[in-house]
Amino acid sequence: MKILAIESSCDETSAAVIENSEALSNIISSQYFHSKFGGVVPELASRAHVKSIYVVCKEAIDSANTTIEDIDCFAVTTEPGLAGSLVVGSNFAKGLALKYRKPIIPVNHIEGHLYSGFLQDSSISFPFISLVVSGGHTLLFLVRSFTEYDILGSTIDDAAGEAFDKIASMLGLNYPGGPEIDAYAKKGNPDKYLFPRSMLNRPDFDFSFSGIKTSVKYFLAEKFPTGIKGQDLSDVSASFQEAVVDIIVKKSLSAVDKFKTKFLMISGGVSANSRLREKINEEARKINIKVICPEISYCMDNAAMIGFIAEKKLLENQSIFYDLSFSVSSAAIRTRKKK
Ligand code: KG4
Ligand code: ZN
Repeated sequence: MKILAIESSCDETSAAVIENSEALSNIISSQYFHSKFGGVVPELASRAHVKSIYVVCKEAIDSANTTIEDIDCFAVTTEPGLAGSLVVGSNFAKGLALKYRKPIIPVNHIEGHLYSGFLQDSSISFPFISLVVSGGHTLLFLVRSFTEYDILGSTIDDAAGEAFDKIASMLGLNYPGGPEIDAYAKKGNPDKYLFPRSMLNRPDFDFSFSGIKTSVKYFLAEKFPTGIKGQDLSDVSASFQEAVVDIIVKKSLSAVDKFKTKFLMISGGVSANSRLREKINEEARKINIKVICPEISYCMDNAAMIGFIAEKKLLENQSIFYDLSFSVSSAAIRTRKKK
């Protein structure tokens, strides 16, 4: 059973072929041009998806050594995301399903991230804690099976990636800011400045990053009113990054502790952060917990994760469409929050 999955919810156009829970291909085309606008421009993103989607799908099929006629089912991200971007992927997938008379499975993007670690490590067992940290989301889940999960907590203001992007902009760095801050932080002292670790004293699993943002903003205005560079830039980057990483690591591990799970999965763009990977592995090792942090191409927005969960839905006979009656939604994930 081969699935061609398509992901176009934000600024990556991606297609992948999945068979037996493995990615035979996973092609990702990133829209780097948004960098000059300081953020993703929705209308330009959807136009760029239109330009690249055919080529990306063809490359996914070719590099999986298969043909479109051999595809048994299509899968596509339908929520959440930028409406115009979602429509491009969804309509392209619908066109393929209509032409090749195959079923199609709509997939929630966050569910894709939630299970993406299985693409790397099939030994994970339920239940586990899954953290999704990206530019749009900071969500902590208790995952019980491929069909059941509860949200334990989420950000009450900015997403972690959004905080990286906003601080990077204050520091005069390019968009997306996460990789830039990560790189400068490598040369900096993380203990040089102490930025607030918000909500760490609360027993719940919610996050807040706007306090750090405000604190860095006032700090820069006072200490570096004419701009920041050199070692200072590296030290502020490292100190800010350490505060965010501290919050993420502590909240995630306290969820692991509360629900007595053996595995912790992290995914989403921010999980590419080198200090986060280092610290979460260090801390988890001390308490004998296995951290699954997929390789970057499965962490960032990608179609392999969409195909993976679509295959599970296919096997469970869940949300398979033999017509084209589904639509896209930019709304966030809908699920119960566990207290
Ligand atoms: O998951 P993703 O590719 O797209 C969505 O937001 O859905 O995540 C993008 C976010 C951006 O905010 C970017 O700054 C952040 O992930 N990011 C990082 C790193 N690489 C990407 N944040 C911190 N450190 C990184 N190395
Ligand atoms: Zn994402």
